[in-house]
Amino acid sequence: MSKFMAWVDERFPATKVWEEHLAKYYAPKNFNFWYYFGSLATVLLVLQILTGIFLTIHYKPDVELAFASVEYIMRDVQWGWLIRYMHTTGASFFFIVIYLHMFRALLYGSHRKPRELIWLIGCVIYVALMAESFMGYLLPWGNMSYWGAQVIISLFTAIPLVGEGLAEWVRGDYVISDATLNRFFAFHVILIPLILAALVFLHIVALHKVGSNNPDGIDIKKNKDAKGVPVDGIPFHPYYTVKDLVGLVVFLILFCLVLFFLPEFFGIFLEKDNFAPASALQTPEDIVPLWYFTPYYSILRANTVNFFWIDAKLWGVIFMGLAIALFFVLPWLDRSPVRSIRYRGFQYKLWLTLFVISFIVLGYLGFKNPDNVDLFLFKNVIWAQIFTIIYFLFFFLLPFYSKSEKTKPVPERVNFK
Ligand code: HEM
Repeated sequence: MSKFMAWVDERFPATKVWEEHLAKYYAPKNFNFWYYFGSLATVLLVLQILTGIFLTIHYKPDVELAFASVEYIMRDVQWGWLIRYMHTTGASFFFIVIYLHMFRALLYGSHRKPRELIWLIGCVIYVALMAESFMGYLLPWGNMSYWGAQVIISLFTAIPLVGEGLAEWVRGDYVISDATLNRFFAFHVILIPLILAALVFLHIVALHKVGSNNPDGIDIKKNKDAKGVPVDGIPFHPYYTVKDLVGLVVFLILFCLVLFFLPEFFGIFLEKDNFAPASALQTPEDIVPLWYFTPYYSILRANTVNFFWIDAKLWGVIFMGLAIALFFVLPWLDRSPVRSIRYRGFQYKLWLTLFVISFIVLGYLGFKNPDNVDLFLFKNVIWAQIFTIIYFLFFFLLPFYSKSEKTKPVPERVNFK
């Protein structure tokens, strides 16, 4: 074996990479629950690609055949139902994991200097992931696939001058049609997965250049022993490979519970209207995007007034775009002298809590008819407006309270509290 490895190492840096990135990659000792989600996201990316390959073997990207080919996978292909449910459940779990992964960064300041690029690449991954799932959702050619795509693509038409042309360019037709399905298939199956895999690679390269942050937000590289090893670091392998395996087992239990017992997850992971084929003549009662888009959908619909010379629809598109774009500038909005929430003041804790609440409530409201009263007192649209304001205030006030609020002293060494 050692002779074989020597032969390989002369031609390819296998041992060097193994040591630099696993066996001698020193990660902070105090990783906690929140540090499971990076490895889980990697597992989910692999799962989606593998199950996707098997689905592609039997799926037919043709408006006359697509819906029936998915039914064929569900009923006639051996284990086809399992493969498809793994893919649909995997998509929703991917977003759950990514949202928790991003939230961890906000908790411990992982987006702050020197990890801005890890965060920025992450933001691009997030946008690519949204594009990936949006395009994938058209493929079964169910009624919600059709109308969901119809609503989202028509948003482009709100853009002055070029809007109509842009929407037509995206659809490849005047309406959503076979041309749209074919290009979405190509992007969903080839282009975006390739981009995602490349971006995840860059994400890890950037992470390993600067090293992981940790729940204390302390720079462990500042405190090294005589051999140059960080005193608060442990080798990633075997310590964190084993720890991540424990996280994976717990994750798989939850994943299997949904996969085998609740794959539709109350119409949230698989929407009811998508069990009927696409029909241009039958609009679903409520057009609802997939759950991970509903916060942004609420922000879009919260804009109800024409203001200046811009109409409400365009304001909606602008605010929806801004809601995502603000994540990109977060490292520069945050001016706190400390990274971790453990040493920040009350205001950051308060605003982060309000931000999370607003994201969840906006997500809930995205499922509801804006004119109904589903919470209390006000119509849903009013609540959406209130929580949209809170969502944006988190970002816009951040430069001020993060700089001025009183912080606690950061310890020299990591702790396990
Ligand atoms: C396919 C999607 C993604 C994969 C596979 C992925 C993978 C990983 C992995 C394996 C780590 C190291 C382990 C850990 O810290 O949990 C990591 C760290 C990190 N990721 Fe991601 N990630 C993804 C998406 C994102 C997104 C969308 C963001 C933010 C917008 C993001 C931001 C970060 C940050 C800031 C770190 C450093 C954390 C720290 O050191 O505390 N990632 N990612």
